[in-house]
Amino acid sequence: MCGIIAYFGNTPRGTGKNVAPILIDGLKKLEYRGYDSAGICLLNNGELYSAKVKGRVSELEKLALDLKQSNIGIAHTRWATHGEPNEINAHPHFDCKNEIAVVHNGIIENYTTLKEILEKEGHKFVSKTDTEVLSHLIEKFYNGNLEEAVMKTLELVVGTFGIAVLHKNENKIVVARRGSPIILGVGENENIIASDAVAVLPYTKKVVYLNDNEMVILTDGKYEIRNFDGQVLEKEIDEIKWTASQIEKKGYEHFMLKEIFEQPEAIENTLRGRIDEDLNVRLSIDKIDFNLVERILIVACGTAWHSGLVAKYLIEKIAKIPVEVDYGSEFRYRDPIVSKKDLLVVISQSGETADSLAALREAKNKGAQTLGIINVVGSTVSREVDAGIYLHAGPEIGVASTKAFTCMLTAVTLLSLFLAQHKKIIIEKEFFNDIKLLPGKVDEVLKQSEKILEIAEKFKDTKNFFFLGRGLSFPIALEGALKVKETSYIHAEGYPAGEMKHGHIALIDDELISVFIATKDHTYTKILSNMEEVHARGGKVIAVVNGDDNAVLNLTKDIIRVPECREELMPIINTVALQLLAYYIANFKGIDVDKPKNLAKSVTVE
Ligand code: F6R
Repeated sequence: MCGIIAYFGNTPRGTGKNVAPILIDGLKKLEYRGYDSAGICLLNNGELYSAKVKGRVSELEKLALDLKQSNIGIAHTRWATHGEPNEINAHPHFDCKNEIAVVHNGIIENYTTLKEILEKEGHKFVSKTDTEVLSHLIEKFYNGNLEEAVMKTLELVVGTFGIAVLHKNENKIVVARRGSPIILGVGENENIIASDAVAVLPYTKKVVYLNDNEMVILTDGKYEIRNFDGQVLEKEIDEIKWTASQIEKKGYEHFMLKEIFEQPEAIENTLRGRIDEDLNVRLSIDKIDFNLVERILIVACGTAWHSGLVAKYLIEKIAKIPVEVDYGSEFRYRDPIVSKKDLLVVISQSGETADSLAALREAKNKGAQTLGIINVVGSTVSREVDAGIYLHAGPEIGVASTKAFTCMLTAVTLLSLFLAQHKKIIIEKEFFNDIKLLPGKVDEVLKQSEKILEIAEKFKDTKNFFFLGRGLSFPIALEGALKVKETSYIHAEGYPAGEMKHGHIALIDDELISVFIATKDHTYTKILSNMEEVHARGGKVIAVVNGDDNAVLNLTKDIIRVPECREELMPIINTVALQLLAYYIANFKGIDVDKPKNLAKSVTVE
């Protein structure tokens, strides 16, 4: 959460000598990480010039462009953790003399103790943030060398941070990381720091990924990377594969809609090169000794956790290996039993989610082998696992995850088949044929968008939704409910349909809408009975069914028809229908679908 950008450029192109437009453009690209307030600080000739606003980056833009021009600057877009979103709590934060400016992503967990000490020493705090202790500590330790003061400060800090710091008397930007992503873009006479590659891409594809406990010092056209002991490090320069045009909206009203419609191609990309001519699944995960694996532990959060549940069903069914699925935030604190015989699989779009990362480290410490299913190349999780499967879904900008989720489902399907083949379990040829047909089937669902839009309009004022499914459709019911909640702010709950009669059925009335996933699988007749139960109690139903299945016609006229497909792949097909439903409902309600309130794309705090 929170987006940081910092730029030191000799000749900022197209912007005169001014970095402000570059920083603002970067903040707009990072705005998905947090968007409740924003700020900027430029350094010119021994003076700091800054502006902060409550609200969106667009509101900062004018103020930023009016500042004294400069070729050195830092900026921030915030997702509040400590202190309400307002101008004072917006970053950058300053020291008592306004000589030091700090932008920060992460949480300083011991900030109250540090603040008390600093206040006793006479430091005056103006904000309610944890970040402000950093600027005052740097002030305390500053003795003419900014990086040394930063290093001393960070020795005292408990928690996570990605920071960029300016001092008015030094032509440099000091950047450091522990637990929050930082990427360095290496250009010609210009270097750019950001929390995410999307902000670096317009300038350069050459990047260096900072590890924890590393810092970068940007000076005129140069950069130096050090560890927190001050040792200079030589790090490899990587090349980003994504293009800048991949992160544009391309005529779609929202990124979320664009990303929903990109799914046939995204799934194709997840599959590419992974099933060979002899129908063997090829995943470059040889570093893992699968002969040792007796159990699989999956950790993830939110939408990614739902893909973990699908993975459990598939791996247990196809590869016959027991699987447990945990929320990252629970796993890390429950002292789980983990051994060398476990394979820990982290599923994460961003590869930066703090809880998933902590769960990964916990399992590693306890001896498990580790595998990542990740979208963002070079992300922290991808660098810490023993082996990984990249989704290749392309950049996902909409805060609500869509294409990354269906690509996760595709990847876990491949993983189940891979594990089965490793155990010499024969997989029928048809399965592979059906996988190849997936992108086309998703396209067929997208062609239903007009019908789904009609249903969305009819139900846009609904106050409560149930999403119900059985077997592999249960996690998809959870995902459908989550998409509606987060994009439309409508109360929605997902349940296993068979569980409904144990309590939830009490809520059924003619205002609660039940969305049933009733596509054909081995629980089909059971789910029809569950629909009857709801209907009999006056509940209204939206049904997702296969093709021309008319068995539900006496229960509802609000039917979303999706193509038939083998049971194991139906989660992908059904998801797309529910994503469209959520998107259209949110859009009818006039919500900023790409940036729903209170959320952020990459949750790098606990
Ligand atoms: C919901 C959503 C979140 C994320 C969760 C994990 O649409 O996007 O629930 O799935 O924050 O994020 P990643 O996958 O980046 O670990």
